[in-house]
Amino acid sequence: MTSNQKLINWVNEWAELCTPEKVYWCDGSEEENNRLLGEMVASGMAVKLDEKKRPGSYYFQSDPSDVARVENRTYICSAKKEDAGPTNNWADPVEMKATLKGFFKGCMKGRTMYVIPFSMGPLGSDIAHIGIEITDSPYVVANMKIMTRMGKAVLDVLGNGEFVPCIHSVGAPLEPGQEDVKWPCAPIEDKYICHFPDTNEILSYGSGYGGNALLGKKCFALRIASNMAKRQGWLAEHMLIMGITNPQGVKKYIAAAFPSACGKTNLAMLVPSIPGWKVETVGDDIAWMKFGKDGQLYAINPEAGFFGVAPFTSMDTNQNAMLSARANTIFTNTGLTPDNDIWWEGIGYDAPEGTITWTNEVYDKASGKPAAHPNARFSAPAYQCPCIDKDWENPTGVPIAAILFGGRRPGTVPLVYQSFDWNHGVFMGSIVGSEVTAAAIGLKAGVRRDPFAMLPFCGYNMGDYFGHWVSIGQNAPDKAKLPKIFNVNWFRKSAQGKFLWPGYGDNIRVLQWIFERVAGTAKADETPIGFVPQLGSINTTGIESVEANMAELLTVDKGQWKDELDLVREQYAAFGTHLPKELANQVTAIEARFEK
Ligand code: OXD
Ligand code: MN
Repeated sequence: MTSNQKLINWVNEWAELCTPEKVYWCDGSEEENNRLLGEMVASGMAVKLDEKKRPGSYYFQSDPSDVARVENRTYICSAKKEDAGPTNNWADPVEMKATLKGFFKGCMKGRTMYVIPFSMGPLGSDIAHIGIEITDSPYVVANMKIMTRMGKAVLDVLGNGEFVPCIHSVGAPLEPGQEDVKWPCAPIEDKYICHFPDTNEILSYGSGYGGNALLGKKCFALRIASNMAKRQGWLAEHMLIMGITNPQGVKKYIAAAFPSACGKTNLAMLVPSIPGWKVETVGDDIAWMKFGKDGQLYAINPEAGFFGVAPFTSMDTNQNAMLSARANTIFTNTGLTPDNDIWWEGIGYDAPEGTITWTNEVYDKASGKPAAHPNARFSAPAYQCPCIDKDWENPTGVPIAAILFGGRRPGTVPLVYQSFDWNHGVFMGSIVGSEVTAAAIGLKAGVRRDPFAMLPFCGYNMGDYFGHWVSIGQNAPDKAKLPKIFNVNWFRKSAQGKFLWPGYGDNIRVLQWIFERVAGTAKADETPIGFVPQLGSINTTGIESVEANMAELLTVDKGQWKDELDLVREQYAAFGTHLPKELANQVTAIEARFEK
């Protein structure tokens, strides 16, 4: 399949260590996909869903110990600890490689080693990069087929070029005669998700789930790619990309970063509540952005599918996600109905009698145990999304007019505000976070910061990452063409604890203000924290009852911001000398503006 000697040698080397029963090179064909899925049905790992209700779709239940990304088992193995920074687990690369080699030795015994060539980004795009994942999980192969462009065509583009080596094993060798389990994996203390930024390598052991195992996604497209982007002067970000068209037919693209569980997929696929506006999706999770020859920042979605959280996705909350998953989709850890369809909490109708839970028990609502695990997922091909953007596979990407940040902030942070300039926008990204109560997670109440929504995904020192963002602004080929930066907060609450903003499809009203700020037409008040919409400048036609909340939604309170800036100082202290002075200066500049 390939004459790339480096690749052939690398595969042979790992096959020798892992001792699989056989090595199989994936060609990415439909025939291959159907065969592997058929084998998983035959072995009891998968259930084929009803062909009429859910054509080409399959259902999986994971081991109860293997249900999500494992951040405490995720490591950045840079030569210097300081390069991993205060927000990552660090391990010495030489020691970690030795430990992992011990785990990988013989780990694929009795299993097939699959070799998956994949491209993150449209094949042949200047912004795209190629990886090769070795795995002993056919479930990973089937998911990579949805989530990336994979197979023979990738090897053809790769030729003798460079690839990011990604090695994965579920960590469950089979002795001769030993029967396999439904979801093989290793115990939690033996799971390792390791990144070697100095050599661009990824080694993942012991988990078969999501971002731990589909190595193109968080491991490559964010942790390793953020290192590549820093070295090469581009951006690898945890951002959705969407196109917005106004009633006059003018279109602008925005990229937006929100921490996990803030409705990123819903925003990417939003159905506008105001007539004449259209939203189209380029991506729902990751953006790679580079300056084009015209000086604009262009973004591609490196992925080819959506790995969405299933619970509470419904035709009401996100019809486009539901329709994306109508066929050719893999469902993991949802409920399974007796007529072989899926069900989850918040899907919009009651569970049919006899539904099976993700732990393979008969669902009993009264027991309080959910049918779907809260992190149950659908892996759906992006091309099936009814609102997919016509340029989602354009190899040059789409031009980004605005960048949005946001988190869950019941207080302090207005519904939307715009930065004064690029560095002030970088400051806004660096303080992204969601408020937590002491009761909820057993921590000190306060704001759990998730800078740029990259806390679990930045593959190097977060302070240096802030510096990289500053340098992107400094080195922009045309500063006037830099995207404008905004912060949004759909989650502000009244003193009585009620949400002040309706959210969902009505978020288009905030996007309209942003769109018109970029166009230079929307009105704003200059406040110490940035430009805030003038009262009356957010379109509330049709939701007049919300007008009474607008003043509170847009309030910038000096006392609350004093507390906020105290917390930011505490957050920034952790970065020591890695914190760019441009960001430290923002804190004092905001304080000074409050005193004016
Ligand atoms: C995700 C996440 O799964 O951000 O996309 O956690
Ligand atoms: Mn994500």
